[in-house]
Amino acid sequence: MTIKKERPDLKRAYFGEEFVWGVSSSAAQTEGGNEDGKGMSVWDHFATKKRKILNKHTPEIACDFYHRYPEDVSIIKSLGIPNFRYSLSWPRILPDGTGKINKKGLDYYHRLFDECRKNGIEPWITLYHWDLPHALQLKGGWKNRDILKWFEEYVSVCSHAFKDSIKNWMILNEPGVFTGAGYFLGVHAPGERGLKNFLPAVHHAVLCQAIGAKTVRREVKHAHVGTTFSCSHITPHSNSIKDHAAANRVDTILNRLFIEPCLGMGYPIKDIPILKKIEKYIHPGDDKLMKAEFDFIGIQCYTREVVQHAFFMPHIKARVVPANRRKVYHTAMDWEVYPEAIYQMLKKYSSYPGVKKIIITENGAAFNDKITHKKVDDHERIKFLSDYISQVYRAKADGYKADGYFVWALTDNFEWAEGYYPRFGLVYVDFETQKRIIKDSGYWYRNFLTR
Ligand code: FCB
Repeated sequence: MTIKKERPDLKRAYFGEEFVWGVSSSAAQTEGGNEDGKGMSVWDHFATKKRKILNKHTPEIACDFYHRYPEDVSIIKSLGIPNFRYSLSWPRILPDGTGKINKKGLDYYHRLFDECRKNGIEPWITLYHWDLPHALQLKGGWKNRDILKWFEEYVSVCSHAFKDSIKNWMILNEPGVFTGAGYFLGVHAPGERGLKNFLPAVHHAVLCQAIGAKTVRREVKHAHVGTTFSCSHITPHSNSIKDHAAANRVDTILNRLFIEPCLGMGYPIKDIPILKKIEKYIHPGDDKLMKAEFDFIGIQCYTREVVQHAFFMPHIKARVVPANRRKVYHTAMDWEVYPEAIYQMLKKYSSYPGVKKIIITENGAAFNDKITHKKVDDHERIKFLSDYISQVYRAKADGYKADGYFVWALTDNFEWAEGYYPRFGLVYVDFETQKRIIKDSGYWYRNFLTR
């Protein structure tokens, strides 16, 4: 199959000095280190007790980043990547979710951030990248409105502890995914299903987005605060009115549900009437509480989705037509490779008044990487990254907001319900030996950033 080349001459310099370049990763997917007082997360429980992960994989050791972070930070440095986005593990810091603080957990993150600084790398923090303390899930987790005070306590502990070392803060990672996959479809931790679980989880996550931002600002002078949203470009499967309407409903759920309330626009109930049931969970005064002041939003875009009307799909009456069924070029996750998706998302989010800056906090691809002669030739990932980055440039050149770009991910890691099968890293990890091999895409990114 021939793939259209986007700007092969693309240079970092075209994006300007202010544009932020980085690489992303998260605690639950890399850290392992179930020791030194760390509590159990919902993902530890989902994997080891419920055995819900493909091939029965667990995040118990993952990339052993807890012990090997100095090596991984030195790889980031060797690749010339100036910014590293990483998450804090709530159950490592507050093993029971609230109350007793685990000093060893805080010390570990202090060591990690010192290591980054020593190597000239700016750490960016995500406060919540899906590893809710299991102790809180036993009390209902995101469904329980008490999460507003649990989360405020957690954020205030973290922002107080790291106020002198961290400037860049992201409150939530992709609330659409942890509520949708975790509380509606049941395919992610904690494995709950249905509207009665999903809707309260959504509303509490929306409130926590805003509470988190306020709490960080209270503690950290000159903090640069954002939050991240998953998003996909949505197109109808055919030109029929029904497919267009179905695509609009899916766009509303996937791309608008979390950003609009924080911009003071409320929930997009008009476009998806079933959402009206969320009103049951809204307390007087919540409208104001949902609004948040973000310096930037993080968007995480990997693909587009093609949507078809589906009468029998409960609530949404729509389904996504998978890439392999459409016979289009796709990654190991069956996500269509569609670089223009990122252009369309930058255009869409730039049009919201109130969005000040947009940083792509994740973009990347999983392919079936193989080691040959101690090297990993991942030319498909190189092509993927350069084509998507070209579309970011196109958006910027067209006057849309585009202020930064982070590759997902630094290393291969624990890809949630898919276990260790999909490899997203710029760096290959042999999970038997924990040996790292920089892939050709890692060297490509270094050349792009440094030439
Ligand atoms: C995003 C998640 C991230 C990773 C990538 C592939 O939805 O934020 O942790 O799993 O997808």
